[in-house]
Amino acid sequence: MDTFEAIRTLLAVRNYQDKLVPEESLRRILEAGRLTGSSMNGQPWHFLVVQNRDTLQQLGSLLRSGPYVAQAPLAIVVAIDNTRYAVSDASRAIQSMMLTAWVDGLGANWVGFGGLDSIKPLLGIPTEMEVFAVLPIGYPADAITGQGKKRRKALAEVAHREQWGQPFA
Ligand SMILES: Cc1cc2nc3c(=O)[nH]c(=O)nc-3n(C[C@H](O)[C@H](O)[C@H](O)COP(=O)(O)O)c2cc1C
Repeated sequence: MDTFEAIRTLLAVRNYQDKLVPEESLRRILEAGRLTGSSMNGQPWHFLVVQNRDTLQQLGSLLRSGPYVAQAPLAIVVAIDNTRYAVSDASRAIQSMMLTAWVDGLGANWVGFGGLDSIKPLLGIPTEMEVFAVLPIGYPADAITGQGKKRRKALAEVAHREQWGQPFA
């Protein structure tokens, strides 16, 4: 799958098979995050891998917008330094990791709102760090249908050519 095809077909996956993620894939996903470029090469991120079933279940009950983390075979918790570009940098790293997972046949999602800081004590994350996102990852439980059929604004709505308001298309 080339890069554009991966981006075109990538979906948020919230249901996972009860099947372990190969260690090799997990390492590739983490490497994709680590190798991502960041502002001034600051790399203001940490990737905490959770595979313990009890911990995943507790994460699922703490994360209001991601209860399905409880069913995933693993989750990567992305914590960031409290620095100016950390949000942009970590967002880029998350996209790298999600695409790498996708190309390996895995599904992931970005759990990003509600209850994120409440998971710090469970995982021993220092108080000065910010929990930015949790990425549950696993083989998709449902057949991926309609790949690439995304609910997105039309190109003409978001892309302009030369002057604002002149649609690209
Ligand atoms: C910054 C960000 C935060 C998100 N937070 C959540 C979340 O908390 N829970 C969730 O289920 N999905 C979350 N998502 C996933 C989006 O809902 C999903 O990407 C969007 O609906 C498009 O779905 P699709 O990629 O399958 O087309 C988040 C995505 C982003 C980029």
